[in-house]
Amino acid sequence: MQFLELVKKRYSVRGYKPDMVEDNKLKIVLEAMQFAPSASNRQPVQFIIINTQGKKQELRKIYDRDWFINAPLLICACGLPHESWVRSDGTNYTFVDVAIAMDHLILAATEVGLGTCWVAAFNAQELRKFLGLPEEVIPVAMTPLGYPDIEPTPKERKPLDELVRYDHW
Ligand SMILES: Cc1cc2nc3c(=O)[nH]c(=O)nc-3n(C[C@H](O)[C@H](O)[C@H](O)COP(=O)(O)O)c2cc1C
Repeated sequence: MQFLELVKKRYSVRGYKPDMVEDNKLKIVLEAMQFAPSASNRQPVQFIIINTQGKKQELRKIYDRDWFINAPLLICACGLPHESWVRSDGTNYTFVDVAIAMDHLILAATEVGLGTCWVAAFNAQELRKFLGLPEEVIPVAMTPLGYPDIEPTPKERKPLDELVRYDHW
């Protein structure tokens, strides 16, 4: 698949079949995450794979959507700010590094026919408890991972001339 075709094919999948993700596909998406660039190559990320079986009631407290708890797998992308590169003005790049790694994973998932959906509106406190996250770890985003059970909706995007400037603001 051409890259632009792949990018346009990805959509937020809010409905999953119960079928489990095969190990070889999970390995592919994790490897895509592993090879993401990060500031100063610090790789300040941890990705936690959650098998949802038998945990649905607890997962509801984290993000109360049927499509979220019914996906076979969930992935939580965490950042380690204490390991991240920090610019001289104090800006910590954890969120950028996690987002790039997560996007690699999500695009690789699309290529192998798996659905994903960025989720940030979770209850972070419940998630921290559920995963036993150390205080310094930031849960940045989650995604379900599984086979789509819904069709894509048309993409709504601003036109390029509203998103791009040339030479100056
Ligand atoms: C950082 C981020 C956080 C998001 N959080 C949520 C969320 O909590 N719940 C949800 O249903 N969708 C969430 N989304 C999905 C967006 O709503 C979606 O990407 C956007 O509407 C464009 O649609 P598309 O992904 O189908 O192209 C999030 C997306 C991003 C990038």
